[in-house]
Amino acid sequence: MTIGIVVVAAGRGERAGSPEEGPKQYRSIGGEAVIRHAVRNCLSWQRSGPVVVVLHPDDEALFASAVRGLDGAARISTTPGGATRQQSVFAGLKVLSATDATHVMIHDAARPFLDHALMDRIAAAFEDGHEAVLPALPVTDTLKRIGADGVVHETVPRAGLYAAQTPQSFSLPAIRAAHEKAAALRREDFTDDAAIAEWAGMTVMLVEGSPDNTKLTLQRDIAMADEKLTRLPALPDVRTGNGYDVHQLVPGDGVTLCGVFIPHDQTLSGHSDADVALHALTDALLATCGEGDIGDHFPPTDPQWRGAASRIFLAHAAEIVRRRGGIITNADISLIAEAPKVSPHRDAMRANLAEVLGISLDRCSVKATTNEKIGFIGRKEGIAAIATATVVYGRLET
Ligand code: CTP
Ligand code: MG
Repeated sequence: MTIGIVVVAAGRGERAGSPEEGPKQYRSIGGEAVIRHAVRNCLSWQRSGPVVVVLHPDDEALFASAVRGLDGAARISTTPGGATRQQSVFAGLKVLSATDATHVMIHDAARPFLDHALMDRIAAAFEDGHEAVLPALPVTDTLKRIGADGVVHETVPRAGLYAAQTPQSFSLPAIRAAHEKAAALRREDFTDDAAIAEWAGMTVMLVEGSPDNTKLTLQRDIAMADEKLTRLPALPDVRTGNGYDVHQLVPGDGVTLCGVFIPHDQTLSGHSDADVALHALTDALLATCGEGDIGDHFPPTDPQWRGAASRIFLAHAAEIVRRRGGIITNADISLIAEAPKVSPHRDAMRANLAEVLGISLDRCSVKATTNEKIGFIGRKEGIAAIATATVVYGRLET
């Protein structure tokens, strides 16, 4: 079985208006001609054989530039169409009959969103022995029959009603014979190929259409297709904040870093427990939602914070973030200290962060470095910390 494709593109697109912009199949959606999308989807389907595109004689140059550089473009042949879609299809079938195609999918150039899953469903119906296959979707709107007087005459029960799409697909000799018969009898009033097949006595099998595979008919359809292709996906509103803190070392019995007390011959001086790491991270969290810094929330002049455990500050910042709708996805701290050694306490420090922030351990990172004996940190006069927080605040409006 070789499945050829006829793409009909000889219409003038009168209902789309704006003739100065050219026929609708050559207008741009997502930066490319409508027909380029349709033909690309035909060529890139794995099972596609020869592709015949039926053109209006005025459009040859437009077509050549619309498909320039497409993969598989060598498989395209073109032929002039006729005054009606039916005539254009017939012209395409004649050209395809000269190839090795045994089956044909007849597709409108004005349907750029043809998808391969739909083509696979049609091919599967061919494999099952069906000689005529119609992709269609059940009608979902309630249907009314309106008289010339503009008044509703009846509500049409929609059970069993389907809206036809393309590619309508057939055994090539059978549909060609049906078109020949219609032409010989001057039956020019068929609106689609399935109607000709039915008229010729073929049994037309339905396969599920694709909701995206709409035909661009009106100017509005083209604008909506363009919008669909150019619209940015809703991006997650990811924000990062950084924080920095430093505290002086004075003689003492130990330091508290990330909530872990490490015995040492010095201590950090400060008005709370002087946990530089948690102070830096508190600032980083506040920075993701424009909430100022730690000093704004816990003024050093306020006696209630004297000697306070800094986890209170961090928990408060995390609560502010959550109230703003933020989800904390990462917390990262770098400690810069000549001594004491931090690495034996890293796991306990990370566990503290995970607990206070209410996030998993793998989202909490503590790193430490010395200052290579340089500067005030190198002289053990102080310890510094740098922190980065990452928070997702829902979706970004574009
Ligand atoms: N078509 C064709 N030859 C024709 C008429 C239509 O090849 N004489 C093609 C169109 O190019 C289109 C498909 O058939 O890809 C479906 O037709 P339709 O949406 O009606 O397109 P137009 O006829 O171009 O538009 P209109 O009816 O608004 O003028
Ligand atoms: Mg038309």
